[in-house]
Amino acid sequence: MKPYSSRLAMKLGLLFPILLFLTITAAEGKERPGFDPEARFHPVYAEHGMVVSESVYATRAGLEVLREGGNAVDAAVTAGFTMAVTYPRAGSLGGGGFMLIYLPGTKEAAAIDYREKAPGAARSSMYLNEKGEANGEKSLHHIIAAGVPGTVAGLALALDKYGTITLERALRPAIDLAENGFPADEELIRSLSRVKERMKVSPDSMKIFFKDGGESYAAGEPLIQKDLARTLRQIAESGPDAFYKGAVSEKITGFMKEKGGLITKEDLASYEAIVRKPVRGNYRGYDIYSMPPPSSGGVLLIEMLNMLERFPLGAYGHNSARTIHVMAECMKLAYADRSMYLGDPDFVDVPVSRLISKEYARGLSAGIDPERATPSDMMPPGGKAPREGGNTTHFSVIDKWGNAVSNTYTLNFNYGTGLTVPGTGVLLNNEMDDFSITPGVPNAYGLTGGEYNALAPGKRMLSSMTPTIVLRDGKPFLITGSVGGSLIISTVLQVLTNVIDFGMNVAEATFAVRVHHQWLPDELLTERGLSADTVKLLSDMGYSVVTGDTMGSAQSIVKIGDYIYGATDPRRPGGLAEGY
Ligand code: DON
Repeated sequence: MKPYSSRLAMKLGLLFPILLFLTITAAEGKERPGFDPEARFHPVYAEHGMVVSESVYATRAGLEVLREGGNAVDAAVTAGFTMAVTYPRAGSLGGGGFMLIYLPGTKEAAAIDYREKAPGAARSSMYLNEKGEANGEKSLHHIIAAGVPGTVAGLALALDKYGTITLERALRPAIDLAENGFPADEELIRSLSRVKERMKVSPDSMKIFFKDGGESYAAGEPLIQKDLARTLRQIAESGPDAFYKGAVSEKITGFMKEKGGLITKEDLASYEAIVRKPVRGNYRGYDIYSMPPPSSGGVLLIEMLNMLERFPLGAYGHNSARTIHVMAECMKLAYADRSMYLGDPDFVDVPVSRLISKEYARGLSAGIDPERATPSDMMPPGGKAPREGGNTTHFSVIDKWGNAVSNTYTLNFNYGTGLTVPGTGVLLNNEMDDFSITPGVPNAYGLTGGEYNALAPGKRMLSSMTPTIVLRDGKPFLITGSVGGSLIISTVLQVLTNVIDFGMNVAEATFAVRVHHQWLPDELLTERGLSADTVKLLSDMGYSVVTGDTMGSAQSIVKIGDYIYGATDPRRPGGLAEGY
């Protein structure tokens, strides 16, 4: 038998590695800022780069580009084209959107505006019925609902100006997935079955998205899009000109002529994506970059943050009645401004610097009663509003150099008009409804607009898309954005406050229950999950509380020191946050 001292030494010898392991693990916990083992939900973690999108295929395609040494813009453009194939409800080449880019090396911030434009022949009268009232059938479901698409021009411009890979490389995964198909999932099948009736007017849509007899695909069966593969190949070979001036444009204008659409050869040939200066704000020491007009998103986000900064939300507590009251009041004030002052800056003079100034926020928020909801009709006048579902998609990217991309794009409604341009696989957007066709009459999202957003030929319709990048100490800290029509701006606002005011990690910030007020209708929307006590307190303050559907779907990344965290929103299945 070994002497006692030697047994002790053995035990200590065993104990030592265990202690060392525990110490290192504990230290790692401490060393990795932003990782809280007690958190309710955990984000995905990576060290070099990450892509978060609503499509597994887009995330993986973007990530592969990052692994090959591409930058965040390369990955974003690749993901964007991939989603035109794998997420056709929002990501078609026939839509438009916005890409926000921040490059910490040069401190450059750019906002790429590839929003659709009104065709030259568009007139408001075309969207009215005999009584002179706005006719949603025309601005949503008819071929004249389509604006001149911007996606191909926007993604190509981003790659050309800020990317390092070729357009052909960026399009490769999209071409492969369109040509060879990918297994349809439940979400895709369900979303298609909801628009089947609308799609029936489009033989090409029916041919692509349903089986021969009009039956839905079963989960796991491949969705093959040969025409779209050809369109993508033509863009890979000839650049965006293939879409705007070449073979694809001829098919688009041919279809327009046949069906009484508005988009002409000149509309397509003259379409240009624009690099704009992002709007910039500051919230509790964080720098906020977001989308300028023709989106209302960035202006409203900063306007609301400026007002909220005046309240100690952290002390009020997350989703307490007090916090929700203050947020709702700020949302109402900002959405009321949206209806008045926001529109395409190339056509109207949007008072951006005033709306995003701290002084303006001070004046506006001074009127907030800490105990009572202000009725919306005490704010600037408006109308009544129905709400309908639409679709959009957001993705966020960060690369190993810390370059960040935040991109939101859309067809407006699920599958846009539902019309596919024959022989191209390209679905047409129904973005014309985002104009205020008749001032004071709400659009599909219940948003009321005025003269600033009145329709004019060549004008870009006002959007709510809010791709956002938040900097801390000059470096991208939070990259986020969401879908959801008018709910986009309040969703992004809450992702930001959840992280900054309530100290949540990015997964908790994404999953938390959301609220929304858009001034008109005068209703406070909440997701399920607020306590009955909170709802009662809010009702007692004068709110008409409506608890209903989920709000938005945010795709976000947070970078703390060298550590990257991401979360895809569980409100929509099929997304993926993945890094390396
Ligand atoms: O640009 C806009 O604000 C709308 N066309 C976006 C539509 C949308 O987000 C629908 N989403 N769920």
